[in-house]
Amino acid sequence: MVNKIKTCVFISGKGSNLLSILKSSRDYNFPINIQLIISNNPKADGIKIAKKYNIPFKYYSDIDKNKFEARALLELKKSKIKFICLAGFLRILSHNFINNFGYKIINIHPSLLPKYKGINTHQRVLMSKEKYSGCTVHFVIPKLDSGKIILQKKVLISKNETVSALKKKILAQEHIVYSQSIISIFR
Ligand code: GAR
Repeated sequence: MVNKIKTCVFISGKGSNLLSILKSSRDYNFPINIQLIISNNPKADGIKIAKKYNIPFKYYSDIDKNKFEARALLELKKSKIKFICLAGFLRILSHNFINNFGYKIINIHPSLLPKYKGINTHQRVLMSKEKYSGCTVHFVIPKLDSGKIILQKKVLISKNETVSALKKKILAQEHIVYSQSIISIFR
């Protein structure tokens, strides 16, 4: 594909979803190309991935949400970014940011939304004795883990499932469903 969509991935932590999208983007027919990585956490492990794969990155520490968004918007404009993937980015973007950017923004969340928005998802799912959990990719609106759902993947919760086992099981599905969602948006 010649004209891949210039994409920025926002991270806050490990970056395993970033890596999975990055690997998919190496495919000639994958619709996007990651041209920028932005972190709100200077210690995010995902920054190491940016360095390893030679992708331009920016991180901002100790600044409030307004300043973070203003700086991020500038970088996005400079790099002519037309699509944002939030991948473990643990901040809610403002209405102003979403409007100013003006292009699609998507997010992944480790639950079957609209259930279990927010943090400590897996603990809450297990405490509620759910039979199933999963992950969801959705469009971003200025409301926590909300917005139109693109794709979901369901996993069966085993007997005596632990938080870390469930997290690992769902993360493996996240890595599949994130790329599938990107393909489905631009098909
Ligand atoms: C993923 O499980 C992602 O779904 C979750 O953070 C983790 C990041 O992992 N995101 C949210 O909870 C957003 N509300 P990663 O840094 O290895 O991709």
